[in-house]
Amino acid sequence: MKIGVIGTGYVGMVTAVGLADLGHNVIGTDKVTKKIEKASKGIVPIYEPGLGDLLKKNLKNGNLSFSPDLEETIRSSDVLFVCVNTPQRKDGSADMSFVEGVSRCIAENLNGYKLIVEKSTVPVRTSSWIKRTISLYKNKEYSFDVASNPEFLREGSALSDFLNPDRIVIGVESEKARNILLKIYKKYKEKIHITNIDTAELIKHASNSFLAMKISFINLISDLCEKTDADVEFVAKGMGLDSRIGKQFLKAGLGYGGSCFPKDVRALVKIGEDLGIGMKLLKEVDRINLARIDMFINKIKEALWILKNKKLAVLGLSFKPRTDDIRNAPSLNIIERLLEEESQLILYDPEAIENTKTYFPEKTKGIHYAESALEALTNANAALFITEWEEFKKLDLYKAKQLMSNPIIIDGRNIFEPDKVRKLGFEYYSVGRK
Ligand code: UGA
Repeated sequence: MKIGVIGTGYVGMVTAVGLADLGHNVIGTDKVTKKIEKASKGIVPIYEPGLGDLLKKNLKNGNLSFSPDLEETIRSSDVLFVCVNTPQRKDGSADMSFVEGVSRCIAENLNGYKLIVEKSTVPVRTSSWIKRTISLYKNKEYSFDVASNPEFLREGSALSDFLNPDRIVIGVESEKARNILLKIYKKYKEKIHITNIDTAELIKHASNSFLAMKISFINLISDLCEKTDADVEFVAKGMGLDSRIGKQFLKAGLGYGGSCFPKDVRALVKIGEDLGIGMKLLKEVDRINLARIDMFINKIKEALWILKNKKLAVLGLSFKPRTDDIRNAPSLNIIERLLEEESQLILYDPEAIENTKTYFPEKTKGIHYAESALEALTNANAALFITEWEEFKKLDLYKAKQLMSNPIIIDGRNIFEPDKVRKLGFEYYSVGRK
């Protein structure tokens, strides 16, 4: 059985490497030929711990190869995992044109039975459209099946999420498709959850939206904590000790970013509204999340009053630690707002500086890049912590204080212990606690 993986972005690359590591014969393809050239040489275009080593291992043992030729990949594969992106359109809905394009190409190159597996996050009922598209454009009388197998990996721990999954959701409507997918994932027999296709598609959007809701919920509670003597860290812990609630995704701070949660919450709102269902709950999740930026800017103003010409160290640019991804990162909105205030910003991140330079080029007025956290802090009027990188947790705060013009920390992710930082002589602002 030969598996083709179409699209080698985050999901596609991890899927290709992961399936090859499970012992399957995998070919990955992408319309960006540069990505394919690099991948063929064992170079991962993204920062993802462990991915490079596993890519090289599977290229070497012959389980994995890459080709820029989509048509050839389709013709030579029995199973096709569709991993192309489904970006957000202006109205919040998912742009499905790449999925449609791939479906047409599959139709035109059908040379035998094929199983087409949706791996990208797609709106419920997408499989019906893929089926219809392939039936409309296929030029030969070969049969095919469509299945849904949503991916739940997180950036930064993508490989271990793929190789040690909580569950594998499989949406199928034929015995043949079911058996093929059971064979592919035979190593994870106990973790497989088989449903119909609409259900599998919805599980993905529902899971991401639920996690986003948890984050907005704790952020709402953190606003309540700030108006009282409650401490959000202890509220979250106390809630999380109830196994029905669980302790994960209850970290208050600057809210969720990345390429998934913001987009998926809005897509589910649009899917529901198109079906005539009131989606106010999730709209509020989105609103609370966007308001985290105002919350943070207000804290900076509370500490510094006038922001014009203030030198601010911006520490953390990626949307979360262990990734160089800045898509929908809170840092971007915060930087834009501070530039409007005419602050002088010194940006630093352990991995995401190069990506940030494409967004805020080096010549941007008010923007400077530093090579270390301590360099960014030198002569700063305040330190703004935006991403909770391990490196920041271990920062020599004693040294930092000596380098800064004013010992002020505004911590958007509750990285530090308030008492400890204050003992060192810092004025310390954090989220949802005194
Ligand atoms: C998310 C899901 O966790 C994955 O299961 C899913 O496969 C993926 O989206 C996807 O759909 O592709 P990811 O976007 O990589 O993964 O990142 P998360 O670790 O979920 O974090 C999302 C955002 O929420 C980050 O900005 C993070 O800082 C924020 N967050 C997370 C909080 O603010 N508080 C928390 O308690 C947890």
